[in-house]
Amino acid sequence: MGPLAPEQAMMMALEEGSKGAGFVSPNPLVGCAILDQNYQLIALAHHERVGEGHAEVNALKQIQNTTLLNGAHIYVTLEPCAHEGRTPSCAKTLAELPIASVTYGLEDPNPLVSGKGAEILRASGKKVQIFDGLKDELEELAEIFLMNQRQGRPFVGVKVASSLDGRIALADGTSQWITGESARTQVQYLRGIYDAMVTGAGTILKDDPRLNSRDPRFANKQQKLIVLDPDGETLSRIAEWNFAKARSSDDIFVVVRPGLARPLSVGRALEVPVLDQGFDLKELLQTLHELAIHSVLVEAGGFTVSRFLRAGLVDRLYLFMAAKILGEGMSWTEGLKIRTLAETPRLRKIRVQTFGEDLLLTARLRS
Ligand SMILES: NC(=O)c1ccc[n+]([C@@H]2O[C@H](COP(=O)([O-])OP(=O)(O)OC[C@H]3O[C@@H](n4cnc5c(N)ncnc54)[C@H](OP(=O)(O)O)[C@@H]3O)[C@@H](O)[C@H]2O)c1
Repeated sequence: MGPLAPEQAMMMALEEGSKGAGFVSPNPLVGCAILDQNYQLIALAHHERVGEGHAEVNALKQIQNTTLLNGAHIYVTLEPCAHEGRTPSCAKTLAELPIASVTYGLEDPNPLVSGKGAEILRASGKKVQIFDGLKDELEELAEIFLMNQRQGRPFVGVKVASSLDGRIALADGTSQWITGESARTQVQYLRGIYDAMVTGAGTILKDDPRLNSRDPRFANKQQKLIVLDPDGETLSRIAEWNFAKARSSDDIFVVVRPGLARPLSVGRALEVPVLDQGFDLKELLQTLHELAIHSVLVEAGGFTVSRFLRAGLVDRLYLFMAAKILGEGMSWTEGLKIRTLAETPRLRKIRVQTFGEDLLLTARLRS
């Protein structure tokens, strides 16, 4: 490989950073590329697991011949951390090396530490700069962390598997399977990269799904599930549902209206206040935040998805569309009343991929 341009180095760091998805919460996904003084790649690494080495430290570990660090250039997707937490400060570690420059993608969003990593590096005589470009990609890599920091709530993804005419089930409730195997394999991955799944009692009562990830990469991961069950309809047989057999008791939360919580043989009942349109979803997210749940993937019926949309609490949509027409049946926006075009939820940064014969439209929602 020849010398790399800054954009190539940052792109490599971005791709590398995404490999930590599902394992770093509550930390951000971060990737790091190190180039020698001639801009040749000498290390590429990511933050792999919470509590373990940060991307910069993992990249440094790959370099056996430390003379290569003389005049080297570091490209990292997020400002090197200034603080000592579970691991030593990356900014201090880098400041002690004979490197020439550090280029980072985004400033640390935490106002208490933002700019401090850069200051430490500048004080040690390194050239320090914020990368000019790839802002959308850099924000997307760190989107869960940025939402947690900026708005103090979990990041909300919504997964929908629908027909071309927007149906998620036939009129008789049959929904397995609208999409093909390849799309469903991707869903297993998506379930793994979020801290928790959210569903409604209707889906449990109709389909009795496991709602865990069977992607082998996440086999040892705690897979939390939140069931929105205002009337406590799932509680009497709680241990018998497939979701309860598929995960440990500590990872199950059933959300009920005030007054209905009771001790359960499996899982925990949580009370959340109810407004006109059902649970107060802001309160729900606040409760989940307090439980150290930093991201959720909603996989539920159309009324539930619509409530999150109406509340402006969908951050990312994953819409799998099968090339099928189902006619009458539940739509994924069931009950979503929109009076003027100005009120329609705005999608941005839209990406379309194919999985077998199905399409996946991924987009951010304005929030
Ligand atoms: N294709 C797909 O991607 C997909 C994914 C999941 C499910 N599905 C299909 O969807 C159908 C189930 O739909 P569904 O609407 O019956 O089930 P659901 O959305 O899973 O669950 C509805 C239940 O959740 C409660 N709920 C949800 N959000 C709430 C909120 N914000 N506040 C209060 N309560 C809330 C509802 O309460 P209320 O009774 O008070 O409204 C109701 O008890 C099934 O046929 C299933 O196969 C399809």
